[in-house]
Amino acid sequence: MYIGLDLGTSGLKGIVIDDNQTILAEANAALTVSRPHDGWSEQAPADWIAAVEDVMGALASKVDMSGVRAIGLSGQMHGATLLDAAGEVLRPCILWNDTRSAVEAAAMDANPLFRDLTGNIVFPGFTAPKLEWVKNNEPDTFMKVAKVLLPKDYLRYFLTGEYVAEMSDAAGTSWLDTGARDWSDTLLAATDLGREHMPRLVEGSEASGNVRAELASKWGLPANVVVAGGGGDNAASAVGVGVVKSGDAFVSLGTSGVLFAASDSYQPDAASAVHTFCHALPDTWHQMGVILAAADAMNWFAKVLGQKPAALTGALGDLQAPSRALFLPYLGGERTPHNDAKIRASFLHLDHNADQHTMVRAVLEGVTHAVKDSFDALTSTGTKIERLLAVGGGSKSDYWVQAIATSLGMPVHLPVAGDFGGAFGAARLGMMAATGAGAEIATLPTIERTIDPVPELKGDFDAAHQRYQNAYKALKGLN
Ligand code: XUL
Repeated sequence: MYIGLDLGTSGLKGIVIDDNQTILAEANAALTVSRPHDGWSEQAPADWIAAVEDVMGALASKVDMSGVRAIGLSGQMHGATLLDAAGEVLRPCILWNDTRSAVEAAAMDANPLFRDLTGNIVFPGFTAPKLEWVKNNEPDTFMKVAKVLLPKDYLRYFLTGEYVAEMSDAAGTSWLDTGARDWSDTLLAATDLGREHMPRLVEGSEASGNVRAELASKWGLPANVVVAGGGGDNAASAVGVGVVKSGDAFVSLGTSGVLFAASDSYQPDAASAVHTFCHALPDTWHQMGVILAAADAMNWFAKVLGQKPAALTGALGDLQAPSRALFLPYLGGERTPHNDAKIRASFLHLDHNADQHTMVRAVLEGVTHAVKDSFDALTSTGTKIERLLAVGGGSKSDYWVQAIATSLGMPVHLPVAGDFGGAFGAARLGMMAATGAGAEIATLPTIERTIDPVPELKGDFDAAHQRYQNAYKALKGLN
């Protein structure tokens, strides 16, 4: 048996799979985000530990854990978890969707070495600019930093007592030489840090340590359960849905929206604002466009209306041509393709007839246009998308998936109901680490349905996408 743990932004999820990759048990613990200032987003690492205790305790009450061979980890990327020399947490973790370090990120991005070595823009959400912000604003804390860990790697530290990171998540720090799959001493030095501040690196499918004896006996695990490197949540999800080779891609409509394509080679194009990261498997990379608020935009609007998102999207009926009303989903700024931490969301072009229906559609269409922006950015780098799956909470809306299929002009495949997210991919990585298996066990899920584009609406979606792009140009700089 193998356990997958996915430390998401809104909760920690754990699953247990058997040797046939059948899910035997699942448990969840909710997490909240603290937003003390505009653009800030933080979590207390102690809450993650409480969540992992809850989840492991719940799994142990459902299955006999004595057959577990490995645990794989998946997690929200980019967060800066700062530890002192004694391994104590110095301040709340600054999360992936925190944009406070926009000024620091822009200054670092102006140094061409960062794009050259990492293959990426230095986005404010990435880890290194957060350390620059801490240096500038909380110098006493910065002086005490002995280790910088990504969120799931802090869980690993709790589980194993070891400081280890893996390539896919490390690529989102702005300190990794992404082509060489190693920390860049040059970039670390440029931020007044050194290799000693970084965890050791492994591949996602490699072992990183063993579960501590005290925890093993608490949860009924055998001795020496392996903890695999795992992956950033997007790379781990890709392993979960079998997106591990060139041509395969998925669109994830979760809190953030991600268009993710696997690649056999390293082909960065930082200027496109596409992210080029290591995959969680050796010698494999991936590219992705990241939309900071995808299902989160719908969740926000549903909360404003005092309703449930599924009730709103479920009432939409068949796909229609986009209305004149526009929604720009930039609630917390945007990454691909704008790298704009200051832009905020807007409804535009509402008329007297605009009602709840119009606005719900505008929200779904706005995120659809954002996915199209990422698709155009990815394909402009030469990346080929031959097969596209949809995953994440938003993919439960046929209306939304068909809007995306129509806008991109390609069918979108929906896996059978089941769990193919980060936790499942992490469990597969655990299985690889324990058995020596490789990408061959990361098979594609059975496709339940394929949603085809509606060709007669393609022109309308293209025109609406053009208006959406024009709207951003008009609003850019309006802070
Ligand atoms: C990816 C990113 C998000 C988080 C969400 O670059 O920032 O997808 O990983 O968990």
